[in-house]
Amino acid sequence: MALENINPSGTVAWQKLREHFAEMQMASMPDMFAADNGRAEKFHITWNNFLVDYSKNLITDETLALLQDLAKEVNLSGAIESYFGGEAINRTEDRAVLHTALRAPKDADIKVDGKNVMPEVYSVKEKIKQFTDEVISGKRTGYTGKAFTHVVNIGIGGSDLGPAMVTEALEYYKNQLEVRFVSNVDGDHIAEKLKGLDPETTLFVIVSKTFTTQETLSNATTARDWFLQLGSQDDVAKHFVAVSTNIQKVTEFGIAESNIFPMWDWVGGRFSLWSAVGLSIALAIGYDNFDKLLKGAHDMDEHFRTAPHSENIPVVLALLSVWYNNFYGAESEALIPYTQYLQKLAPYLQQGIMESNGKSVGRDGNPVNYQTGTIIWGEPGTNSQHAFFQLIHQGTKLIPTDFIGFAKSLHGNQDHHDKLMSNFFAQTEALLNGKSKAQVKKEFAEKGVEGEQAAFLVPFKEFKGNKPTNTLLIDKLTPEALGSLVALYEHKIFVQGVIWNIFSYDQWGVELGKQLANSILGEIQSGEVKEHDPSTSFLLKTFLEKR
Ligand code: F6P
Repeated sequence: MALENINPSGTVAWQKLREHFAEMQMASMPDMFAADNGRAEKFHITWNNFLVDYSKNLITDETLALLQDLAKEVNLSGAIESYFGGEAINRTEDRAVLHTALRAPKDADIKVDGKNVMPEVYSVKEKIKQFTDEVISGKRTGYTGKAFTHVVNIGIGGSDLGPAMVTEALEYYKNQLEVRFVSNVDGDHIAEKLKGLDPETTLFVIVSKTFTTQETLSNATTARDWFLQLGSQDDVAKHFVAVSTNIQKVTEFGIAESNIFPMWDWVGGRFSLWSAVGLSIALAIGYDNFDKLLKGAHDMDEHFRTAPHSENIPVVLALLSVWYNNFYGAESEALIPYTQYLQKLAPYLQQGIMESNGKSVGRDGNPVNYQTGTIIWGEPGTNSQHAFFQLIHQGTKLIPTDFIGFAKSLHGNQDHHDKLMSNFFAQTEALLNGKSKAQVKKEFAEKGVEGEQAAFLVPFKEFKGNKPTNTLLIDKLTPEALGSLVALYEHKIFVQGVIWNIFSYDQWGVELGKQLANSILGEIQSGEVKEHDPSTSFLLKTFLEKR
C-alpha cells in the first residue's frame, strides 16, 4: 500500500492546533514550570542509554494530545508499517525505502517485490567483514606487497557525508589506517588529499550509488591517473574498490567485478551509511564496531516501530518540530552536539533533512498550502556558543534547538568534561528562563553600577528566555549510541514527511543544476557561450576572459 494522501491542514487536529496556538502564543515556559513541578518528569522519555527531556518546549498536555491526534489522522501508524514492510513508499521513483533492512537481524524476512532481501544483505556484510579484516590485518596488501596505511573514500552527498561523519564521530575507536575523504569536484580538494600519500600503500574506495556522478567520476579518474604514475593498469585491481548499484559502469571504469560491493536501489543515498557505503567506516574502526553501529540503529528502529507515539522519541521530536514549523513559523532548527567528535553531524543531517523534506508538492501532485522542510544547522558546543548563540538568545527568530550531550567523556578528562557539560546544561536553562530587566538592574546594583549608562544598558542585557530546546543526554559516545542517534533523526524525517504529505525519498530538486552545469561545461571548454539570461552570459564571458 502506498502512503495515504491526506492534506494535514485539512485535518480536525490541525484546525484545533491553530486555535490552540492562538492561546499558546503568550505562554511562558518558566510559568508553566512554576505551575507544575512534575513537568520534567512528565515530558521526558528514557530509552536504553538515552534520556530525552522535551519539557523545555512551548507545549502543554493539550498541545501534545493534539499533535498525537494529528499523527493519528494522517495514519502515521499505517505509514510506519508500509515503511518497514518494504512497500514502494518512494512513489516518484517507484522504490521501497529499506535502509532499516541493512541493520535488521539475519533471520528477518523483509521482502521487496516478494523476495526476501536479507540473504543478499548478509552476503554483502560478509564480504565487507572479510575485506576489512584483511586490509586492517595487513593480509591484503598493495601491489608491492606492502600493507595499506591510507584509505581514500571518493564520493559525494550520501556517498561521502555519512561515512565521513561516522568516521570522525568514532575516531576514538579507530585503528591504524588513516582514512581521508574527497568529495568536491574542485581539483584542489583531491590534490590536497593526495598530498603525502604513497601509491603502494593507498587504497581507494569509490562510492557512488549510480556511478554517474560527475564529481565522483572525475575524482576517481584523477586518483587512478595519480596511481598509474607508479603502478600499472593490472595493479589497479589491488588498489581500487567500488560501492555501487551500477556494476556495468564500475567495470567499464576498470574496477574488477570482485572488487565491487553492491548496494540496492531501495537504499537512498542519504540513508546509505549502513550499507557497503559504510566500507570506509568499517575500514577505519573495524567490522565489529561497524556492526555495533548497525545494532544501535536497529534498536532505535524497534523502538520507533513499537513504542506508543507518546513515548516514541522520533515521533515526539518530529511532532514538536511540526508544532514550531507550522504554527510558530520557525524556519530553522539548530542541532548542537556537546562533543567535538560530532562536528559533522549537522552537515550530515542537512542532507538527510533538507534533501528529504525540502519539497513543495504534496503527494496529490498539488502545491502544498503549508510549510514543509526545516532548515537545519549547527556546530558543536561550546564553539557554537562563541559563534552564533547570540542570535539564538537575543535575536528576533525562534530557533528550536536540540542539545546532544554525553554523561561520560571518552578519554576521561573529568575536569574538561565537567566544564563542557556545565555549559550544556547552562545554555538550555538560560534559553528557558532568560534574564529579566529586574534581574539585570539588581545585578548592576549589587556591583554598584549606577547612573545613566547603567539604565541605558538594561534592555540590551535582558534575555527574554522562553526559547524551546530538547535535551538528549546519552551515556557515552559508543558505536551503538551513534547508530541509535542517527536512526532517530532518520525516523524523525520520515514522520515529518508523512505529516506534510510529501515524498521524502526523492531528490528531483538537485537535477536542474546538474543538467545546466553539463551544458555550461561544454560552452566553457569550447569557448562558445550560447544563449543565457544576460547575467549568466556576462559572467561566463568574463570568466572565459579571465580563466
Ligand atoms: O545530490 C544528489 C545525490 O543524488 C544525493 O542524493 C546522493 O547522495 C549524491 O547525489 C551522490 O550520488 P551517487 O552516490 O549516485 O554518486
